[in-house]
Amino acid sequence: MCTFVLSKKIMDQNPNRYTITAALPYTNGPVHIGHLAGVYVPADIYARYQRLQNKDVAFICGSDEHGVAITLKAKKDGISPQEVVDKYHAIIKKSFADFGISFDNYSRTSAEIHHKTASEFFKKLYEDDKFIEEVTEQLFDEEANQFLADRFVVGTCPKCGFEESYGDQCENCGTSHNATDLINPRSVISGNKPVLKETKHWFLPLNEYEDFLKQWILVDHKKDWKTNVYGQCKSWIDDGLRPRAVTRDLDWGIPVPAKDAEGKVLYVWFDAPIGYISSTKEWAEREGKNWEDYWKDENTKLLHFIGKDNIVFHCIIFPAMLKAEGSYILPNNVPANEFLNLEGNKISTSKNWAVWLHEYLEDFPNQQDVLRYTLTANAPETKDNDFTWADFQARNNNELVAIFGNFINRVMVLTDKYYEGIVPEPSTFSEVDEQTLSELKAYPAVIGSSLERYRFREAQGELMNVARLGNKYLADEEPWKTIKTNEERTKTVMYVALQIASALAVLSEPFLPFTSEKLKNMLASAPLSDRTQNGAEGWKDVSSISELLKPGHQINKAELLFSKIEDEQIQQQLDKLQASKKMNAEANKKVTPQKDTIQYDDFAKLDMRVGTIIEAEKMPKADKLLVLKIDTGIDVRTIVSGIAQSFKPEEIIGKKVTVLVNLAPRALRGVESQGMILMTENAEGKVVFVNPGEEGVDNGASIN
Ligand code: MF3
Ligand code: ZN
Repeated sequence: MCTFVLSKKIMDQNPNRYTITAALPYTNGPVHIGHLAGVYVPADIYARYQRLQNKDVAFICGSDEHGVAITLKAKKDGISPQEVVDKYHAIIKKSFADFGISFDNYSRTSAEIHHKTASEFFKKLYEDDKFIEEVTEQLFDEEANQFLADRFVVGTCPKCGFEESYGDQCENCGTSHNATDLINPRSVISGNKPVLKETKHWFLPLNEYEDFLKQWILVDHKKDWKTNVYGQCKSWIDDGLRPRAVTRDLDWGIPVPAKDAEGKVLYVWFDAPIGYISSTKEWAEREGKNWEDYWKDENTKLLHFIGKDNIVFHCIIFPAMLKAEGSYILPNNVPANEFLNLEGNKISTSKNWAVWLHEYLEDFPNQQDVLRYTLTANAPETKDNDFTWADFQARNNNELVAIFGNFINRVMVLTDKYYEGIVPEPSTFSEVDEQTLSELKAYPAVIGSSLERYRFREAQGELMNVARLGNKYLADEEPWKTIKTNEERTKTVMYVALQIASALAVLSEPFLPFTSEKLKNMLASAPLSDRTQNGAEGWKDVSSISELLKPGHQINKAELLFSKIEDEQIQQQLDKLQASKKMNAEANKKVTPQKDTIQYDDFAKLDMRVGTIIEAEKMPKADKLLVLKIDTGIDVRTIVSGIAQSFKPEEIIGKKVTVLVNLAPRALRGVESQGMILMTENAEGKVVFVNPGEEGVDNGASIN
């Protein structure tokens, strides 16, 4: 946590204010490493870094407690939505605190202040005539007697062909759409095909904000937004923006404050981002600050840390809402990350394929920084990335223990042994000493420059270079040898090494806050106000202060910063995942009941042939799709198949497959697919081909 108090004087010199938000997590389950890596660790590093720069920071988050995700979980567990959110709000809040995520405020969207803020926000737009009020036909489940909004309905994504797309968003390709756009929609409640029924809703006409969004994103932020974020925005804008409903026919949420709006609530993606504002208000009230400084002052930098599935909401819809309201600033940047996979597979709550934060801490108590470090080293900054336990172990043993820990340990032990823990007085600095100290002073700017560009992996790599600098210096200067021959030289070397250790204590704080605190205690470097000009434990002080630790200063005894992680501990984690896999395989074994009887004529309509895959390549910009050329014996044709996550193109060329050749052609991502390849799943849930096993079967042979 930050330990300084901003004086009025510093504020005046330094008017920069930061409102840093981290996506409000849905309270329908605990948080896992994917959440931490994608959103909360980078946001925390950034917030801590800016505080160390004496910036005025509001780091804001809270629980997202509305929406269909919550209602569905409540239905599944047989409890009320309120019980669901109470349970997970507590678990999530604790996990964040346990991992040192230094929110200034963690609120929840069920809080009264949020209901009021969101309601007033809607009312303002309503009264200013910013909405279109329209009766349209929406999907309705006749059996459940309920409209099917958002996650209450699944169907085929009109954009990528994924068959399990939600009503409002496709998890496969990230597109956000209206529920009525789905092909073959089915109700999640009853499984039935929904009917269309008229109902009135309020729409935000995004099309009217097209010019504004084009200028603001595609021109003004072309250079400084991450390419993954910019690219997604551009593709949405290029596709053409349409009015979006901001209300729903549901009973869980914030009532719509409009005329004739009974039984309607605000769309969760309308109310949740306003949660950033209400959480800021709650904090400001508590701290005696003015919340409007953080949301309405042009000098304030508003930053949204999110995962890639949230880009459209934070870059298009929420900014359009803020613009419509008129008195708010817009985000300066939205540094969204891609996704983190786990041991080669997508993290999945339902399959229990995850590392849950609360479980991690049971197995690795007090080792939060090891996970923070690994997740940052492997952060999915520009593409999806993989977390493996082997990498986790290697990063700990070969980097944290062998580089960082080793350097600090040597400095502590030698200072204790030679000088009883008192920082020695240096004599003349050699060229190497001067060089080392000046290199050290360059690091705050080097690390800072990476952080300012949201390159957290790079920044953390530079932090480790500070420890490497220290190790190299000790290895070259060998104080354990000179102690026998040259006491003065040894003192100088240890003095320099102690300065590096002290710099590490400050510079590691954003990344490894627990380690930083331990190290500060070991170096007895608090209160720091004694050694800095401005009373702050500042980032830049590492460059500007000539002496971070003065001669004569007494340090404390060494504590262990990192310890080796053994193979058994890693095996235990792998076994845990293996157990999840087995459970899933068991669950998958449940044979689906037989479908209704058909006549031979029905079967005879299917024209299935033996074919061979002769070419395969990835569909550009689609994670799941392969474009295949199949020799069907009749012809060579193109078939698009959703198997890219199970097979590499090169490994399936030459494979014999079963093809349904007379399925009506369908365009997927602009490529016409002329048939379907028969697939099934093996016991482990892996997709496999239904292939004609017998030898010597030619392409084109009919299956009957
Ligand atoms: N609950 C959403 C999710 O987990 C994120 C909401 S972010 C906010 O994907 F902006 F709406 F707050
Ligand atoms: Zn899709």
